[in-house]
Amino acid sequence: MRRAIYPGSFDPLTNGHLDIIERGCKLFDEIIIAILVNPEKKPFFTIEERREMLEQVIREISHGSCRLLVEDFRGLLVDYAVERQADAIVRGIRAISDYEYELQMALMNRRLEPRIETVFMMPAEAYSYVSSRLVKEIFLLGGKIDGLVPSSVQALMKRKHGGS
Ligand code: PNS
Repeated sequence: MRRAIYPGSFDPLTNGHLDIIERGCKLFDEIIIAILVNPEKKPFFTIEERREMLEQVIREISHGSCRLLVEDFRGLLVDYAVERQADAIVRGIRAISDYEYELQMALMNRRLEPRIETVFMMPAEAYSYVSSRLVKEIFLLGGKIDGLVPSSVQALMKRKHGGS
């Protein structure tokens, strides 16, 4: 049984995240989508809202025999990964610009906990420029985010932002 952790802020979940989850399902028997609880950040969605959003979206996609779980964690990612007996951490890399930061994190995580591997996955090219940060910015400025996030996430964003 191969278990991976897919960590992130998921504020909000984008179609790029979803693409990585679907691809990860081809490699792992179980993926725990783990939302970082970061008291220093002021998120758009609360942890509870993000958990609900992820749970709703994974009900909507087909993931075959791959088990998908949604959890949240605080503290060091590697400590959480060991506690959950994961084999690997999955991270999506969209462009070279992501790689530098992700490599630094992966090597640091390896130094902290050599038993956990980091697996980098590439989303479809169509999502190579999609980020939660830009999706939020465009949405809050009244731009269209169709096709960038699942429609249920878009509906939640509209509901949260007074129907705009
Ligand atoms: O979606 P994000 O914000 O890019 O995810 C970043 C995340 C959650 C993977 C990263 O911030 C993280 O692992 N935080 C937990 C604290 C930790 O382990 N820090 C040391 C990293 S080397």
